[in-house]
Amino acid sequence: MRLLAAADYQEMSRMAGEFLKDQLKTNSRSVLGLATGGTVKGVYSELVKLYSEGQLSFSHAASFNLDEYYGMEKNDVNSYFRYMKEHLFHHVDFLPGSNHLPDGMAADPIHECSRYEEMIEKAGGVDLQLLGIGENGHIGFNEPGTSFQERTHLVTLTDSTKKANARYFKSLEDVPGQAITMGIGTIMKSRSILLLASGAKKAEAIERLWNGEVTEDFPASVLKRHPNVTVIADEEALMLID
Ligand code: F6R
Repeated sequence: MRLLAAADYQEMSRMAGEFLKDQLKTNSRSVLGLATGGTVKGVYSELVKLYSEGQLSFSHAASFNLDEYYGMEKNDVNSYFRYMKEHLFHHVDFLPGSNHLPDGMAADPIHECSRYEEMIEKAGGVDLQLLGIGENGHIGFNEPGTSFQERTHLVTLTDSTKKANARYFKSLEDVPGQAITMGIGTIMKSRSILLLASGAKKAEAIERLWNGEVTEDFPASVLKRHPNVTVIADEEALMLID
């Protein structure tokens, strides 16, 4: 695991934008694994900027998002589909049909999970997976205690994750109780992984990721077993690391 330090959120986002640009330069047909949330918004702005400057193109690339709320309409203001459209897909040149998220309205969620997993495999697997990290070490919606072997699956969200996500909803009660997420086994099959962290709230998680043991109680710790992981964190997120 490689750790790169950024001064602040802006610099972290710029560095991550360059990282993705290099990935697409090396392989324009890259399959990108994408995340949502506050941490990665700045990266998407960077990518939109780089695209508008003619510095990169997504026209041969494909994407698979980590997760989607279950029971949520595609165009709901809080769906991850809507987030991706607003922050990235709508502004760059991905070809129609090349962006994938789990279907949050699938009648049979278990079937949807295996369908999603098969689609990733058919696309040749994820070349670069972008990740944020939860304060409790979750990656995707894989909460502490999730098996490292798990593939795409339906999860019940913990209270702490619901609380963390409630800022986007009218009230805590409006946060969906379930989501479909790539599993840790799915994430670990990516050829490379870029994890981002910003702000003091993430400092304990980054310290534990860097210094702690590999345990299912702290899902992100599994990344220590992956041969190609880069972490870009800003000064606040790094404040507990010597
Ligand atoms: C998002 C996701 C989550 C977030 C994590 C951090 O698709 O899967 O694991 O990456 O919850 O969220 P933020 O960036 O909002 O702190």
